[in-house]
Amino acid sequence: MDSTFIICKPDAVERGLVGEILARFERRGLRITALERRDVTTELAGEHYAEHADKPFFGELIEFITRSAVVIAVIEGPEDTWKVVRAMMGSTNPRDAAPGTIRGDLGILFTENLIHGSDSAESAAREIALWFPDHTA
Ligand code: RTP
Ligand code: MG
Repeated sequence: MDSTFIICKPDAVERGLVGEILARFERRGLRITALERRDVTTELAGEHYAEHADKPFFGELIEFITRSAVVIAVIEGPEDTWKVVRAMMGSTNPRDAAPGTIRGDLGILFTENLIHGSDSAESAAREIALWFPDHTA
């Protein structure tokens, strides 16, 4: 089995869309192996998005992700689960995201794009260890 990490971002929690998002993964045949609501510290948000630390949008991104509670999860599937989840999320900018994807069906603003998903097997391993240190596999 193969695991990846997702964050239902503050906009998803505020709008009551967590169930809708998680249900899509379950209907697809993926399994939720860890799930938790969290208030994210600036420090953890910065570590999570460290690759973007030098980008002009970093401040806005950290402000957004720490604005209110998030729901984090580990999603498990047969193989390349991070790829399946990324395809189901849609393009980063919801305006460009295809209908049928989470961002394409539920979002319209750029930063408020509802969901984060690991972008490689290596990112998935790093992010699961960062957010769920007790999670195995
Ligand atoms: P995420 O990491 O949140 O899953 O999103 P992603 O892989 O689709 O996009 P990424 O390039 O990693 O960017 C992380 C988040 O930063 C915001 N962003 N703003 N203003 C901009 O040019 C810009 N680019 C990215 C987005 O909210 C994106 O989700
Ligand atoms: Mg990313």
